[in-house]
Amino acid sequence: MATINTGLYQRFRERVNQIAKKGIALPITYKLIASFLIISIFTNIFFTIAGITFIGNRIITEAQERVRNDLNSAREIYLGELRHITDVVQLTARRPIIQDIFAFGVTENIQSDLDYEKKYEDLDILTVVDKSGTVVLRTNYPYNTGDNLYQQEIIKSALDKEETIASSTIVPVDFLAKESPRLVESAHFVFIDTPMARSRPDTEEGSGMLLAVAAPVFNDDNLLIGSLFGAVLLNRSYTIVDTIKQTVFQGMMYKGKDIGTATIFQDDVRISTNVLTEQATRAIGTRVAEDVYNQVVVNGLPWIGRAYVVNNWYITAYEPIKNISDTVIGILYVGILEQRYVDLRQSAVLTFLLISLGGVLASIAISYMISRNILIPVQKLASASKELAKGNLEIRVEKTSDDELGELADGFNTMAFALKERDERLKDFTRKKFMESERLALVGQLAANVAHELNNPLQGIVTYSHLLLEKDTCDEPTNQNIRKIVTQANRCRDIIRGLLDFSRQRKPDKTLCDINSILNEGISFVENQALFQNINIMMNLDESLPKVIVDPAQIVRVFINLIVNAAEAMEGNGQLTISSMVDMDTKCVEIEVSDTGSGIPEENYDKIFDPFFTTKETGHGVGLGLAISYGIIKEHKGSISVESKVGQGTTFTVRFPLAAVKIGNGNES
Ligand SMILES: Nc1ncnc2c1ncn2[C@@H]1O[C@H](COP(=O)(O)OP(=O)(O)OP(=O)(O)O)[C@@H](O)[C@H]1O
Ligand SMILES: [Mg+2]
Repeated sequence: MATINTGLYQRFRERVNQIAKKGIALPITYKLIASFLIISIFTNIFFTIAGITFIGNRIITEAQERVRNDLNSAREIYLGELRHITDVVQLTARRPIIQDIFAFGVTENIQSDLDYEKKYEDLDILTVVDKSGTVVLRTNYPYNTGDNLYQQEIIKSALDKEETIASSTIVPVDFLAKESPRLVESAHFVFIDTPMARSRPDTEEGSGMLLAVAAPVFNDDNLLIGSLFGAVLLNRSYTIVDTIKQTVFQGMMYKGKDIGTATIFQDDVRISTNVLTEQATRAIGTRVAEDVYNQVVVNGLPWIGRAYVVNNWYITAYEPIKNISDTVIGILYVGILEQRYVDLRQSAVLTFLLISLGGVLASIAISYMISRNILIPVQKLASASKELAKGNLEIRVEKTSDDELGELADGFNTMAFALKERDERLKDFTRKKFMESERLALVGQLAANVAHELNNPLQGIVTYSHLLLEKDTCDEPTNQNIRKIVTQANRCRDIIRGLLDFSRQRKPDKTLCDINSILNEGISFVENQALFQNINIMMNLDESLPKVIVDPAQIVRVFINLIVNAAEAMEGNGQLTISSMVDMDTKCVEIEVSDTGSGIPEENYDKIFDPFFTTKETGHGVGLGLAISYGIIKEHKGSISVESKVGQGTTFTVRFPLAAVKIGNGNES
């Protein structure tokens, strides 16, 4: 086990060292996929968070907006009930039978008429008082009369102001007791504790909350004679809350629970509600949460928001119910089950996450495809380049697209084609050059051998000819012939020298020379010859020409060759111009030999410096003059060039570098 671990560790260390040394070289596919992924994951995370937050907030805001509207509808229903009672009480108060009570006293007929009306209109209380507030008729059992209700705020206000007063109001238990034991029973609550409910020291409540209306009763002279008081006890009466549930929420259910609920609170106690307890009974007797109570009852402000109601979280709206003195006596509440919106939000979040996940997967697939599309041509190019580097100039890559990669493939193919062409040209050139240098080497060798073999017999001819002349034993014509022999033998010696020069057998003997003098010497050699008799020689020599280091004997031969060639081209008739100058830019001494001769056809430019190339008849030219001159000039690190026009003339230009060679050894300084 230990060995395996050590091995793994060793490999891990090696890999780490490798990476530290070289850096991580990931394939381009991974890099592309990684960059696509990073971008898509980050954008997805960003948009998912933004989307979830936005949708979550939107859903909650929508729910709050809805519950706010629902509360408005609930209020309308609540006030509608009060308006209904008001209409009933007001109309009844104007009935003649009410005046009859004050005029003739209560009859059984009146009693049963009003009792019927109370029941028909769903009122819990319908009581007539005189203008001092003393009860003259009570439709509820026991039908007690004679007690004074002036202290009841609504009755008091109606009598004082002589107008109809309608409001929610709290009445104590003895008020209810005088009306009916049923009402006492309905109003009585023993509190039920629920989580988060407001705590309260007492445990039960006996007073009741009424929707009450008091309408003044007038006699025929329009004088106030009393008041009719009608009311509905809200405690344990579910008409309003159930109407709200049915009308506003259409009784919709969610997971077995009512989506919308409504409640009427008397102070903090639920006295009428359709919020259900765990036992599925109405949660009457339970109390509101502390923070809601403080906001709505204590501060008299509405509450819109989340609240824990009995046993569930609701999105709720509470608003205060006030009595005629504007004191908060209760709360009207509507609430929508929060669970529905939580689930809605969760499913939205889930959808978003799934979309994001889909997005990431799609990004991976797309990035893989894109990187493949890029990579395959790149790989092909890379392997083709390797092939090319190995020397396979036939290799080509297939162009698969018209984009930059396509251009790259085109570029590669053009490059490979150009390389192949150049390679072929180079091979051709090398082959030609090789053959040429072979040929020159052979010619040079041959020339050297011939020159060497001819040199000794020729030396004999010259020596013996001179001896004959010195002894002076021959007559004059013979001596003349001997002198011709000497001249021709000397010429032969010159040719041999030329051959030796051409084959580079003879090293130049360099010294500091004045080129102008060498030119003059060259001219003086030839000007007396018959060929030059009709040639006009013009010398344009730069007097201040610097001296150069050359072998004067060799250089004079070069000039003689050029001058003789010029004269031959002019067939002994024309203008020969010889110039010398210094070119400080190239640091050279330049010598030009121009003629007005036949000129050189363009196709011969390349050949005139070849040995044995001549256009002259046999016996007139060997074709060595320019070849030898070229060899000599090269030996002096100089150059020779030609410009010519057929029929007009030719100019040869020779250049020697200023002090570019050392005296004696011929090596570059
Ligand atoms: N000034 C010139 N004008 C016209 N053609 C020329 C001139 N100089 C040289 N040429 C041509 O170049 C050829 C080669 O010249 P080169 O001096 O090497 O040989 P050649 O004059 O023919 O013979 P050689 O000089 O050996 O007696 C000539 O045959 C001629 O065709
Ligand atoms: Mg010549």
